[in-house]
Amino acid sequence: MSICSSSSSSSSSSSSSTKSWILHGLAVGAAIAVALGARAYVAGSSKLRSRVIGIIPARFASTRFQGKPLVQILGKPMIQRTWERAKLAETLDQVVVATDDEKIAECCRSFGAEVIMTAESCRNGTERCTEALEKLGKKYDIVVNIQGDEPLIEPEIIDGIVKALQAAPDAVFSTAVTSLKPEDAFDPNRVKCVVDNRGYAIYFSRGLIPYNKSGKVNPQFPYLLHLGIQSYDTKFLKIYPELTPTPLQLEEDLEQLKVLENGYKMKVIKVDHEAHGVDTPEDVEKIERFMRKRNLA
Ligand SMILES: *[C@@H]1O[C@H](CO)[C@@H](O)[C@H](O)[C@H]1NC(C)=O
Ligand SMILES: *[C@@H]1O[C@H](CO)[C@@H](O)[C@H](O)[C@H]1NC(C)=O
Repeated sequence: MSICSSSSSSSSSSSSSTKSWILHGLAVGAAIAVALGARAYVAGSSKLRSRVIGIIPARFASTRFQGKPLVQILGKPMIQRTWERAKLAETLDQVVVATDDEKIAECCRSFGAEVIMTAESCRNGTERCTEALEKLGKKYDIVVNIQGDEPLIEPEIIDGIVKALQAAPDAVFSTAVTSLKPEDAFDPNRVKCVVDNRGYAIYFSRGLIPYNKSGKVNPQFPYLLHLGIQSYDTKFLKIYPELTPTPLQLEEDLEQLKVLENGYKMKVIKVDHEAHGVDTPEDVEKIERFMRKRNLA
């Protein structure tokens, strides 16, 4: 039930089964126990990567969905829902929205969020986070890039990836995975991941990995789906954009492969999370239906 065996020691035995790094995002009791353990670890280990900021990059223009961050989900802007979840994470010293758009900024200020204006020219969320961090001018050790299109992200998942990165000094990056649904096995938009027995990423792919010899989905295999949330060591954030694109990254069109291909380590935690990313207007109806069913207001 512990989030990652590494929350007590980064050199935890490699023989521990994959279960030992599973975090049940929804099992609040477990999450609290883990949080206490991890706090003890952080306190006991000098000031290792202790200053953490959560940044929610939000741009207005999107080819698929104009003004997406402001779309109402059961009467509340999506960006507000994401921000409210992020504010509940206990590992974050500060949460800011980074945007290029005055309407988004205004909306965010109205519900109390801190906003950093960033250039329209930022090509992706990571660039926006980097620019926001520079503008902020404060020293942080870890940045969590909280994607604004996952309004149901659990604060426990944010805390989980932060603690995983704090507990693994050899990693520069951390992220989360959840169980892959069999119907998503051959969907190239669902990114799969395989990890080693200490929870470090081995590879990400749009194809099904591992690939069963039969060519079919093995109902017994615990395939992993990559979630869009990630945290980085801020020192790595300076290097990341400068790394030249790598062959596997280009072939799969997966940015995170550049990290692995350059030999950096990435810590992965497993969480229980029903992915409800909002990419299209149709996704809004889906997520609202889900929220009504679960009585989430
Ligand atoms: C492939 O999947 C089947 C179940 O569908 C499983 O019995 C088998 O062990 C898996 N691996 C190989 C190499 O066939
Ligand atoms: C963001 O864009 C920059 C510039 O194109 C690139 O170097 C960087 O790897 C990208 N990062 C992500 C996470 O997409």
